[in-house]
Amino acid sequence: MHESNTSLYVKDYGAGSRVFKSNNRQVKDILQHNCSTEKDTQLLYRLCAYFKVNQVLELGTSLGIATHAMATARPSAQITSIEGSPEVYEFAKKTLKKKGLKNVSFVKSTFKDFFEKQISKPVIYDLIYIDGHHDGEATLSYFENILDKVHNDTVVVFDDIYWSIDMTRAWNQICKHTQVTASIDCFDLGMVFFRKEQLQERFYIKL
Ligand SMILES: C[S@@+](CC[C@H](N)C(=O)[O-])C[C@H]1O[C@@H](n2cnc3c(N)ncnc32)[C@H](O)[C@@H]1O
Repeated sequence: MHESNTSLYVKDYGAGSRVFKSNNRQVKDILQHNCSTEKDTQLLYRLCAYFKVNQVLELGTSLGIATHAMATARPSAQITSIEGSPEVYEFAKKTLKKKGLKNVSFVKSTFKDFFEKQISKPVIYDLIYIDGHHDGEATLSYFENILDKVHNDTVVVFDDIYWSIDMTRAWNQICKHTQVTASIDCFDLGMVFFRKEQLQERFYIKL
């Protein structure tokens, strides 16, 4: 992907880009500006392995960097990854299928439509990675949508909690939510837990 000259038309369902001026974007540029960093990707890999996750939901596939890490960390797990931008979805799906990954369900949908279709489905996730639509209000609504899809030991990871003032406001609100107990602020991303045996407490870790 670093060397790819492929261009993709990116249909923006998110909070817009601070880097790109056009919706036609080169894969190598998307990789540099829009995808999980190596450090965050390694952390997601370790989280999936450590918590022995079986069901994972990712909001925002992009090129599938985190998807690939989570799927390889737990080959027995089922990873569901949602992407709204059609050409990006096709590219990620094709690239990851070529890598032989069989435990990923790629879903072409907006996050909102995905949750609307999920209402009657009783899937509970062990790890949820929210990495798209970096808008405070939207993030809060996705958080509300996942509350009936978590169990006591689920971990929810949010990317870019300091991307904007309203993302930080949303993150602070989420940490104070009555169902949330421990939260971990790693600056680039934040994690929340629902473990009832734990008091509500906020931790700050420099990665
Ligand atoms: C930051 S990128 C995801 C990066 C990816 N998780 C990774 O590990 O590299 C966010 C992606 O979410 C998609 N997206 C943003 N808002 C969306 C929405 N409301 N519905 C569906 N897809 C959305 C964008 O098209 C973009 O590809």
